Amino acid sequence: MKFLSSLLILGGVQAVFGKTQLYGMNIAGFEFGCAITGDCPLTKIIIPPIASLGGGDGAGQMSHFVKDDEMNIFRLPVSWQYLTNGVIGPLDKKNLANYDLLMQACLKTGAYCMIDIHNFARWNGDIIGQGGPTDLQFADLWTQLATKYANNSFVMFELMNEPHDLVIDTWAASCQAAVNAIRKAELVSHTILLPGLNFSSAGTFISSGWGAAMATVTNPDLSTDNIIFDLHKYLDIDNSGNHIECVMDNVKDTFVPVAAWLRKNKRQAIVSETGAGASDSCFIDFCAQNTAINDNSDVYLGYIAWTAGSVTSTYLLNLAPSKSGSKWTDQKMAVECVIDVWVSALPATVSNTWGLTFAAGTPVTSSTVSKTSTTQSTAAATTDTGSGSGATQTQAGGVTKTIVPASGSTGKSAASSVKVGSGLMGVCSLIFALVLL
Ligand SMILES: *[C@@H]1O[C@H](CO)[C@@H](O)[C@H](O)[C@H]1NC(C)=O
Ligand SMILES: *[C@@H]1O[C@H](CO)[C@@H](O)[C@H](O)[C@H]1NC(C)=O
Repeated sequence: MKFLSSLLILGGVQAVFGKTQLYGMNIAGFEFGCAITGDCPLTKIIIPPIASLGGGDGAGQMSHFVKDDEMNIFRLPVSWQYLTNGVIGPLDKKNLANYDLLMQACLKTGAYCMIDIHNFARWNGDIIGQGGPTDLQFADLWTQLATKYANNSFVMFELMNEPHDLVIDTWAASCQAAVNAIRKAELVSHTILLPGLNFSSAGTFISSGWGAAMATVTNPDLSTDNIIFDLHKYLDIDNSGNHIECVMDNVKDTFVPVAAWLRKNKRQAIVSETGAGASDSCFIDFCAQNTAINDNSDVYLGYIAWTAGSVTSTYLLNLAPSKSGSKWTDQKMAVECVIDVWVSALPATVSNTWGLTFAAGTPVTSSTVSKTSTTQSTAAATTDTGSGSGATQTQAGGVTKTIVPASGSTGKSAASSVKVGSGLMGVCSLIFALVLL
């Protein structure tokens, strides 16, 4: 086994897996105005991404993303207050019908469609299960949603957007109540996403212990089938996505170690929010990050960029395509760091063995090589051998940047620009390794 891992290190690859099974875009608008206190005013600040309701053309955007860019998952944020029209209780008929317009437009494309309750684990300032709504009330929200979409496994359930500043073990119990409610109400098994601390930060998944705490949430039969972790991460100075400059690529310090943790614990995650401003530094870091996520597609189910929907062109993280006549044009950042890193990557080289079931007719990419536990742990043991300080990456528009890695980084960014080559080398190494076995 020692020999095998040295072989892969010699190959100079970070991982042997081509790309995630899913990738896509957030379609924002139904959650506009939500603060991190869980205050989500029911005013005109909400702009449903539904053209007939005066917002962005979410249906047109999703149809374009699927047809022209091969996207296969969309996240559809909405506030709890919107769905229940401001009172904790039954779903509001009219508001649910509006949200369902977006859901049906998404499902019509054949993609996976994720419900995101965008409340930061709170209702008007109070934490769910920790002084605010009870676990029972939170579970009841999910009973109603799981009943509404009971037989459609293309609908995924993200229990909550970005919890923060709460007691994680108590929060895990609140999520367990929601999982129990969903499993009781649904008719087919839905994928459920578990959010954690620090705004579901992938960067503190290990260090804060939120991954380990949330890993205790299970199905009623104690399995964890179709229960995956929900990760968010930005690349600016405070992980907020509010700054034009990126200062980290989240590769060696975040997505590689988290992948190793997931592998070791036989779990899977999806990155349901990540985005970057259109600056030179971000073109390098965001591309590197998403390449690394693709490279670890045995444990990362996918990534979903922030954001299209009702956003305007002046929004820093605007990734909404523009339309002229019948032709859609994607934002440059979307093309280079979200779409191309997925579309141009080799297909996934491992079969999904993590318990996720896909319905017939899903646009998920097929597997070509079976994973064995040996290659699995070998991949985890390989080190990131980026091309180091001084490497350059030429971007569209002729901008060439010299990479000066921050401490702890090896300049993986530059290596990511030779994606296809390194991917091929990875597959060759894997095949060679299998032959040796
Ligand atoms: C799902 O449920 C809806 C409403 O109850 C029903 O119309 C539809 O036929 C069901 N589909 C399947 C595949 O069971
Ligand atoms: C993560 O959240 C915990 C609990 O709220 C907090 O104590 C800790 O300081 C946070 N860590 C970071 C890096 O923000």
